Amino acid sequence: MRVVGLEGRGGLGEWREAARRLLLAGVPPEAVEWRQGTDASADLFDQERGVSEQKAALKDATPALTVPRLFLDLAATAICHADPVRFGVLYRVLHRLQRDRNLLDVATDGDVATLHALAKSVRRDSHKMTAFVRFKEVGPCGDAERRRFVAWFEPDHYIVARVAPFFHRRFFDMDWMIATPRGIAAWDGKVLEVSSIPGQKTALSDDTEELWRTYFSSIFNPARLKVRAMQAEMPKKYWKNLPEASLIPAMIAGAEASVVAMGERMARDPPAFHARIEAAANAPRDAPPPLRGTLEELRAEAAGCTRCPLHCSATQTVFGEGPADAPIMIVGEQPGDQEDLAGRPFVGPAGRLFDAVAHEAGLDRRSLYITNAVKHFKYEMRGKRRLHQRPNAGEVEHCRWWLDLELALVKPSLVVAMGATALFALTGERPKISDVRGTIRRSEHGPAVFVTVHPSFLLRIPDATRREVEMAHFKQDLAAVAALAAPRA
Ligand code: URA
Repeated sequence: MRVVGLEGRGGLGEWREAARRLLLAGVPPEAVEWRQGTDASADLFDQERGVSEQKAALKDATPALTVPRLFLDLAATAICHADPVRFGVLYRVLHRLQRDRNLLDVATDGDVATLHALAKSVRRDSHKMTAFVRFKEVGPCGDAERRRFVAWFEPDHYIVARVAPFFHRRFFDMDWMIATPRGIAAWDGKVLEVSSIPGQKTALSDDTEELWRTYFSSIFNPARLKVRAMQAEMPKKYWKNLPEASLIPAMIAGAEASVVAMGERMARDPPAFHARIEAAANAPRDAPPPLRGTLEELRAEAAGCTRCPLHCSATQTVFGEGPADAPIMIVGEQPGDQEDLAGRPFVGPAGRLFDAVAHEAGLDRRSLYITNAVKHFKYEMRGKRRLHQRPNAGEVEHCRWWLDLELALVKPSLVVAMGATALFALTGERPKISDVRGTIRRSEHGPAVFVTVHPSFLLRIPDATRREVEMAHFKQDLAAVAALAAPRA
């Protein structure tokens, strides 16, 4: 029996070198025992002639080995698996490939299937790492300006080196370290360092955790809950390091009851907006129009707005709210389902997300005047649900009447356009939001308009890592707004 010792976890380079030597020496797979890490007490070449002597002999005597490209890819992935059987399986497949070049095409072959299963498990673990790493901000280091983040993640396999380039690309503009029991990756703006030294879990927590929880509860729909699918997507073993996971048991436990309650409500009652729409349609129309000297008077006048057909199907006008002398005005697109019923802007999922991020960015909702480009909810019915529809240019134009009056009365020093509809209503411009976000646009007579994304955009991002990046970006935008509007010393 040849005993081959591999250092540490046994990386691809080391395994490949040993496998090549074994193969060229004609050693069959069943005659090899692979040992790893602290078990690696012996080496093929210690037992025989010594490494350099053997290498030199092989170099002179043998042609180069060739293997299919697919094997190289599978080996590079499967070698990251934590199961020590990987070395033997890889060597068996390599050995058999010398006689059967098409072996990898035989999906039913036991060795080929095992190799694919090892690689698949590594790929899945890598994907989960890209989705479930949760960074926490740590304070700045000395005078350095870059923000610093750390994360703790517990992968099943040795995937840190494999996944580190993904985080390098995604989080290029901040310093970060991801510690795991199977190695550490760190980026300081100059060097991406990856080591196989086990990291330490730190007991850090920051405001981002609350943000994750707000986000998660905002997108949770009890009627759509499929516990098995959710647990396949977010396996329980990752929960302990995911801030939002603490909400899951209560959400699952309460989901059935809320769906039953929703069902009963639907069966008994007409839609909540029905009675109010009917009442508005039947209201006497001969009241004199109120004056427009104050926001309250304007709000009362807007309540009877019939400037465009949207008033026919909406429950009520959702006018802006906030202090009459607010220095910052936030403009969204139009009220959503919950805003339409409540009669207040930004009180649904997008509003809750906005409130949480604004709070973290140093903006207090109570000090902001919050309104929408369009004051009535535009939707289409799908079964019993009202699905948001984007207002068209004509509807935005009609409603600009109210927005202009709000601007004239509140006189904010800075207006924030959240999303394309708000920007169009405020400036008449229709650029791609990604091209202009974070910039200030100036309309001819109006105040400065700071452009950012709409919070609903964040709620729609399916990929967790991208979402995290975009949320951080949104927070940066709102922090810039807070800084721009702060009174100068
Ligand atoms: N989206 C908006 O643009 N405004 C709201 O009030 C709610 C959701």
